[in-house]
Amino acid sequence: MNIIGFIASSRKEGNTAWAVNTILEGAKARGAETQSWCYGGVDIKPCRGCSACKKEGKGCVIHDDMQGIYAALADAGAVVLGSPVYMGQMSAQAKTFTDRLYACMSPRFSPHFKEGAAKKKMVLVFTQGNPDPALFQPYFEYTKNMFRTLEFDVTAVQVIAGTRDKRACERSDLRALLNDAGSALVPE
Ligand SMILES: Cc1cc2nc3c(=O)[nH]c(=O)nc-3n(C[C@H](O)[C@H](O)[C@H](O)COP(=O)(O)O)c2cc1C
Repeated sequence: MNIIGFIASSRKEGNTAWAVNTILEGAKARGAETQSWCYGGVDIKPCRGCSACKKEGKGCVIHDDMQGIYAALADAGAVVLGSPVYMGQMSAQAKTFTDRLYACMSPRFSPHFKEGAAKKKMVLVFTQGNPDPALFQPYFEYTKNMFRTLEFDVTAVQVIAGTRDKRACERSDLRALLNDAGSALVPE
């Protein structure tokens, strides 16, 4: 099984990068092939809304690093999307990535993946400075449902709170939890 990770933070060594990579580590230990992209290391432009992707045989006409992600996504059974909370929501980087998924949707934006694309599993992981993991829960629930509408099978939403006090990678309670979220993506 191929699993792709997208780190929607510009900080390549940040909390979100560590969280996504730790989830992927769990999946890899169970035999998955994994690949990840960090927004800080790629060029991904915002969707232009030109709808060229909806014309017969054409994908997204923006020739940036999203093209490689589209190719990997087509083969992937699961996606791990990590975002820091910025002003109570996903980061602009996460929104830019999500909007670009428009090119994968059916021509009439039902909204569904194009016919033939298997339903993909998804793990969402949010990191936030504030220590209260319940603070943005309604937003996380909303986001989970938004991805379900896009036909992702969201299997887990991990919230790592309190990064202002301690970096995620320094927390002894997180590694096993995140590894498990990754291994649970891989069928027995
Ligand atoms: C622009 C910006 C907005 C932020 N907004 C919030 C917020 O609304 N609530 C919160 O708890 N933390 C907020 N934070 C803190 C980040 O969510 C937190 O530091 C996160 O773990 C950063 O992830 P990273 O290390 O992967 O970049 C914000 C940080 C930045 C830079």
